[in-house]
Amino acid sequence: MIAEPQTTKLNRFSRTLTQEISNPAAKAMLYGVGLSEDDMQKPQIGIASTGYEGNTCNMHLNGLSVYVKQGIQASGLVGLIFNTIGVSDGMTNGNDGMRYSLPSRDLIADSIESVVAAQWYDGVVTVVGCDKNMPGAIMAMARLDRPGIMVYGGTIRSGHYKGQKLDIVSAFEALGKKYANNISDEDYEGVIKNSIPGAGACGGMYTANTMASSIEAMGLSLPFSSSYPATHEGKQEECKKIGAAMRVLLERNIIPKDLITRKSLENAFTIVMALGGSTNAVLHYLAIARAVDIQLTLDDIQAISDRVPFLADLKPSGKYYMEDMLAIGGVPAVMKYLYEQGMIHGDCMTVTGKTVAENLADIPSLNFETQQIVRPISNPIKKTGHIQVLRGNLAPTGSVAKITGKEGLQFDGTAKVCEHEGEVIDALQKGEILPGQVVVIRNAGPKGGPGMSEMLKPTSAIMGAGLGDKVALITDGRFSGGTHGFVVGHVTPESFEGGPIALVHNGDRITIDATTRELTLHISDEEMAQRRSEWKRPAPSFTKGVLGKYIRNVKSASEGCVTDEA
Ligand code: FES
Repeated sequence: MIAEPQTTKLNRFSRTLTQEISNPAAKAMLYGVGLSEDDMQKPQIGIASTGYEGNTCNMHLNGLSVYVKQGIQASGLVGLIFNTIGVSDGMTNGNDGMRYSLPSRDLIADSIESVVAAQWYDGVVTVVGCDKNMPGAIMAMARLDRPGIMVYGGTIRSGHYKGQKLDIVSAFEALGKKYANNISDEDYEGVIKNSIPGAGACGGMYTANTMASSIEAMGLSLPFSSSYPATHEGKQEECKKIGAAMRVLLERNIIPKDLITRKSLENAFTIVMALGGSTNAVLHYLAIARAVDIQLTLDDIQAISDRVPFLADLKPSGKYYMEDMLAIGGVPAVMKYLYEQGMIHGDCMTVTGKTVAENLADIPSLNFETQQIVRPISNPIKKTGHIQVLRGNLAPTGSVAKITGKEGLQFDGTAKVCEHEGEVIDALQKGEILPGQVVVIRNAGPKGGPGMSEMLKPTSAIMGAGLGDKVALITDGRFSGGTHGFVVGHVTPESFEGGPIALVHNGDRITIDATTRELTLHISDEEMAQRRSEWKRPAPSFTKGVLGKYIRNVKSASEGCVTDEA
């Protein structure tokens, strides 16, 4: 006898396969993977993991997915794990590998969207750990009209060597010290061997922890998801709680589009500013907003930067690591403080089925007597946010600067042009990078790179060589969250499109001014026009494969580098 079609809304997608007579093969396959008759009545939840063995940020995610599945099954739902790709920025080896990093965000989004939609899952849980995985997961969740929750894999613990705490950036900076003959071979190897002690995402307020903290603030992951280190028992407990939360979302049909609103995006970026997060958050939130048709702009982000102070003494510019945050109450305690100060919208709905204000009601307040990581608003590291949007004749449609104030607010210098990031390392080794220079790295944009590489190697090498406060760097590429120093990235239009950054000559005077938010190339309009008339668009580096497709589809950095818009 054929069962009557179920009308309950909890399995409103999967019932197409499990209840309709026209899909016998699908039902047969579901029996084949081990589902019971009873299971055929239950909602199905896709669990997308970016787990893979080759990188510490993601090596444990398949294991966490099993805990998520246990919680899902215990809540009367069917959990089905699938994998999608991940790319580790820490292992991309300069431009060649790094070209694939930002494109991987959109591949992750496309692949999660494809599996969840094609297999008729009623909800999706994403278990993700690295920089691009998180925005990729959220973009997919935003496109799918069904409940979704993100689980962050968690931050790494610090490494230790000769009494020093270490992380991934220590390894890059050791290279700069090696070039400058400031480190012995033994200590160089000691730093490399001890920087990364096991599972977890890069440990400062770099891109992974920035995205995890702000996505939690946006309401798309459970409270404390960004604060439990990867190896903390709380991380497993969080995974097991996902099933109960998913059931509430299914029962109330709360979907990511309901949670990602202008207000919740503002909450996300408020946390990015207060914690001193990565400039990559700009790209990713522009893209996330576009996925739900909210026109978030660089000016909106600047407005948040203008009103939110930079409070947290976290790496890369500060002293502490993400693992230290849990002891002071984690991201929820910071959110509570900002909410009490009127900087966080309390009425945004979250994946707990409660509002931000309801989630924060029982969270202990930050104790400014006993902790030094997060400063009070009355004594900030910087009165406004560290992320500044600069425009000017060198970046007519915008650029993004990371200005913590530690390096000053203005830099005036002469251009040292590098056609790709490898030239910076060569120039550094030859002693050609000099105090007072503005290093210009071009051909690094989304189309020109392609893939808008991160400049962690050059910036870390410059830091390691002791030039961090003596040279500035501008690029149409982007920066790792681990980057610090006087840096301006996301320069648009990019050089591949004939943006003014393509027209800079060695020795030109450049001013970076965070007080007026201007990026100025000091040449006349006539000279600019003359140079433009001589410029020829380079041939694309790729015409086929994933990067060829990316070059044809990617929008500019000021539009979030999305690839799914006409
Ligand atoms: Fe994965 Fe840094 S390389 S978080």
